[in-house]
Order: sequence, then structure tokens, then C-alpha cells
Amino acid sequence: MITLKNVRKNFENLEVLKDISLTIQDGEIYGIIGQSGAGKSTLLRCINGLETYQSGEILVNGQLVSNKQEEKLRLLQKEMGMIFQSFNLLNRLNVYDNIALPLKFWGINPKSEEAKKKILSLIELVGLSDKKNAKPRELSGGQKQRVAIARALVLDPKILLCDEATSALDPEITREILSLLQKINEELGITMVVVTHQMEVVKQICERVAFIKDGKVLAEGKPEELFVKPDKDVKSFLQEESGLLPQEGVNIQLFFSDESADEPVITKMARDLDINFSICWAKLEDFRSHVYGSLVINVPTEEQEKVCAYLNKEHVLWEVLS
Ligand SMILES: Nc1ncnc2c1ncn2[C@@H]1O[C@H](COP(=O)(O)OP(=O)(O)OP(=O)(O)O)[C@@H](O)[C@H]1O
Ligand SMILES: [Mg+2]
Repeated sequence: MITLKNVRKNFENLEVLKDISLTIQDGEIYGIIGQSGAGKSTLLRCINGLETYQSGEILVNGQLVSNKQEEKLRLLQKEMGMIFQSFNLLNRLNVYDNIALPLKFWGINPKSEEAKKKILSLIELVGLSDKKNAKPRELSGGQKQRVAIARALVLDPKILLCDEATSALDPEITREILSLLQKINEELGITMVVVTHQMEVVKQICERVAFIKDGKVLAEGKPEELFVKPDKDVKSFLQEESGLLPQEGVNIQLFFSDESADEPVITKMARDLDINFSICWAKLEDFRSHVYGSLVINVPTEEQEKVCAYLNKEHVLWEVLS
């Protein structure tokens, strides 16, 4: 478990993290999303002790992250693998040797039978068995990130910290890398903290997400809850516009969850109530393997009460838009 309690961090006069409190559970994929400069990377670097913080507390598996005891911090850092947008591979080393690097750093012989077995099994896990002798320049971006992921796993960390791990990749390769991260989370039970500014990343793999803006947590929760029914701040981050809505009548936004998303509530309502209304705006989205959506309808003012009562009866979440 990773716990942040009232963490504050500044670079000289610039306050970058302002009273951040978060809890990340064991085994979950936790997203941290926000615009450029929000403080995401700084937050991640504070978690793994690459940056110090001025006040508050960061606990990783019950241990305080602090540079006061260097040896203790080093051991704690061993439990946290890290991957970056820029892959950070050594060009002169092949895939196998890049993955072996952290072992060398920790004084573990990468030629030992145990190390060999470990490295080869990781190469297989990330799907690079046919590339183990290739140099980075012979690899595509997605393949380089696979090497970086295997390298981050070679010391058997309990936590994987990912900083914009897919920002440099095209959408299809992004999906592949995210699936790989999800597989690693499921098969190895590794907790993942995923920093990103891409909504797609959060939607595809995160179980919970925190929105960070100007060093503060604006909102936290399940992505489907935050995205489908965003509050003002989250909406402005998503730059979501429900477009121009009619001035006459009443505009009602409906929210569909997994169970109700494919039920024909709308057509059924038109039939059952025998009223006319128009659909102004709609979206359906996938979150992990679930579908969530929302829809804005415009109904005549005199029908509002009837429609709302009907939606309540059908257990559809709704909200009248002003
Ligand atoms: N070493 C540093 N010294 C001084 N200021 C820094 C340092 N690192 C980051 N900052 C500042 O802290 C703020 C947050 O930076 P950070 O890199 O954490 O943002 P971010 O959310 O990761 O942004 P991006 O999405 O662009 O990566 C920025 O204003 C940045 O200029
Ligand atoms: Mg960053």
C-alpha cells in the first residue's frame, strides 16, 4: 500500500505539491492524470524517493520514504520499478543486457543460472523472445518500452511506477503496451501507479484515478464515475462540451452504467409515456471492459415530471441541466 498524507513539495519559491493525500491499495492500477506542469512526475518521484518533500508523509508498504537513512531508502527503492516515456535504454547494450542492468547494479551476477532464467522469462513475458540480442536502434518504440518494462521488473518489485509510459507511442501500440501492463498486474499482482495526461490510458486500465491540477487533487475515484458524471473541474480538464442545447423545454442528462448501457430505456420511455422528445447529445465509452455512457434529451416542460418519475422507476441516474 502507498499512502500520502498532506504531502507538500516546493522547488524554492514554487509550490508544486500542495497538501496531497492519497491511498493506493495493493494490487490496483492507480492513475494520476492532469495537465502539463500539474506536478504528476514530481509526485511520482517523491513516492520513489528520487525527490525529497518538505512536509507530510509518504509510506510505501508501511515504510517512510525519506532520505535520512540512505540504505533503507535504497532497499525500499528496490521494491519500486520505474518506467519512463523516453525508455532510457543503453544503446550499446542488447535487449538481454539492458534488462540485466539493475541486477549488476545490485551486485547480482547476471550470468548466474537464476538470473538467466529470470531475464529470459521476462523477455518472454513482454513478447520479445525473438529480439533478445537486438540493440535498441533495431527496435520500434513499442518494443523499446517492452524492454524498459522487463528491466523495471527484473528485481521483482512490488510496485511499478509508470511516468507517461505510452505518450511517445501511437494509439495502437499504446493499447498493446497497456494490455501488457494489465497482464503484468494480473499475473504478478504488482501494484501500478500510472502517470499520464492521456484519458485513454486511464479508461483502458485504471481502477481508480486522481485528477491533479496545480499540485492539488481535484477529484479521485473510479474513472467511470468521474468521467461519465464529471464535476466542473474535471469537465474543464476533459474540455467536454455538451454542445449547444435547445433553449425551449427541459434538457435532461441521463447516465448509464454497465448494466443499463445497452438497455433500450429511451425508446421504451417514448413508447410507454407516449411523448416526443429529441436526443441532443450522447456518448458511450469503454472503461476497462465495461461500457458507460451519457445522453442529453430535450423534453417539453410539461412532461418533465412524468419523465423524471419514469427514469427513477427505471433506476436511471439523471440530472436536469440548467
Ligand atoms: N527540478 C526542478 N526544479 C525546479 N522546478 C521544477 C523541477 N521539476 C519540476 N519543476 C516544476 O514543477 C512543476 C511540476 O512539474 P512536473 O514535472 O511534476 O509536472 P508534470 O505534471 O509531470 O508535467 P508533464 O505532464 O509536462 O510531464 C512545473 O512547474 C515544473 O516546472
Ligand atoms: Mg511529467
